[in-house]
Amino acid sequence: MSAPDRSTLLRAAAARAVLEVTDKGHTLESAVAMAARELPAGDRAALQAIAFGTIRSLLRLQPAIASLANRDWSKTAAPVRALLLTGVFELEDAATPPHAVVTSTVEAVRVLGQPKAAGYVNALLRRWQRERASALFAADRSPAGQSAHPNWLVQAIERDWHERAPEIFTANNARAPLWLRVNLLRTTREAFLASLSAAGIGAAPCAWLPSAVRLDEPCPVEAIPGFVEGLCSVQDAAAQVTPYLLTSPLAADSGAAPPLHVLDACAAPGGKTGHLLEAFPTATVVALDDDATRAARIDENLARLGLASRATVMVADAAEPSTWWDGRRFDRIVLDVPCSGTGVIRRHPDIRLLRRPTDIAGFVATQERLLTVLWPLLAPGGLLLYASCSVLKAENGLLLRRFLRETPEAVDVTESARLTLEALPAVVSSGLPGLVLLPGAADQDGFGYAVLRRQTDGKQ
Ligand SMILES: C[S@@+](CC[C@H](N)C(=O)[O-])C[C@H]1O[C@@H](n2cnc3c(N)ncnc32)[C@H](O)[C@@H]1O
Repeated sequence: MSAPDRSTLLRAAAARAVLEVTDKGHTLESAVAMAARELPAGDRAALQAIAFGTIRSLLRLQPAIASLANRDWSKTAAPVRALLLTGVFELEDAATPPHAVVTSTVEAVRVLGQPKAAGYVNALLRRWQRERASALFAADRSPAGQSAHPNWLVQAIERDWHERAPEIFTANNARAPLWLRVNLLRTTREAFLASLSAAGIGAAPCAWLPSAVRLDEPCPVEAIPGFVEGLCSVQDAAAQVTPYLLTSPLAADSGAAPPLHVLDACAAPGGKTGHLLEAFPTATVVALDDDATRAARIDENLARLGLASRATVMVADAAEPSTWWDGRRFDRIVLDVPCSGTGVIRRHPDIRLLRRPTDIAGFVATQERLLTVLWPLLAPGGLLLYASCSVLKAENGLLLRRFLRETPEAVDVTESARLTLEALPAVVSSGLPGLVLLPGAADQDGFGYAVLRRQTDGKQ
């Protein structure tokens, strides 16, 4: 028998990556990186597209395929299930001619050690081509199948966002765009856009954020002029809101004389740290992360941006200040909490498969602890920015409301702070502090933000 060709190896690698997520609970990013080692460099983008697309639509495709299978889907060997999912995703995606998808996917059963399943896979993929509409109709009968989200998450998002829930599901199922943050210390956005245009890269400026640029099509960072030299960073527009909220008119009466002393408490890989240093040119930032591997990326990113000299990067548990704090209070604290990631599902589609409903309470406990422990480190008159990439109210407004009730000197000033970004497409929930950016609104990620001010003398 002849050796498998490249397109067969690609399908087998994609199925392996899917399997690593569904059966072993690994992240999609690590699964794709592992599977990519088996492939020539030229096939890695295709691997990424198939694996990400399959995971993104898995909870819709799985019941649809199962409705056509003439054997018990749950008893089908796991590699065969993964292969069928990638094959059907590719047929739906239509980036490759259907006959090529079917041929390579059927061949891939041998690479995966399932040669006896070739006939079954072939028959099912051909049946899909004929009966896809009725199969998808069957999947659409359940909210999970229709939205490609697990039931618990459908319920949580519908409970929090009511009539806006469908737009969140749609945004989560779309491919994310590539946003850049221009390093305004080193260039202007106009000059940067001109350099992109000269390189043949289409891009548009964000209407409400002076630093943000959205590429028409994602491309490798190495192809972006000035990236290696630190003229820009990859950062979603929703994440670029941070320093603007801290530059509000409130800063003037916060009692903080420049240079600002800033804490970035959960900082890796340093996206917000870099932006804070760019936006506050005389500020010094203490950047913490309790994960040493991730913290090393803060150093790398700041070195690339030429900003390392104004930052102190430490591997430390932010919730244990006795191990890292020198006793000098901060004028600004950014607390970008570990969270469910339910606002960034379009970038990390595996979140919907890996996250469990019981995880949320654990995240909330950590978030509350970090907020409570770090609050006393804020100077009177200073501002604390709470940020999460979750759209769930439990991790944003509900938690903040409890904190504000228990902390008399903390005042929610989000509403005044957001005036610096008038056109920001934010949602404010009545009765809850902070604001939420819903995923997909203006093509940005989902995020929760709140700006809290520490009162100086009992007055706001
Ligand atoms: C949402 S990510 C931060 C993203 C980052 N602010 C950025 O903009 O690039 C949350 C980070 O918190 C870190 N983390 C979680 N618990 C922590 C703790 N107790 N102390 C310090 N860092 C923590 C995680 O390792 C993770 O890197």
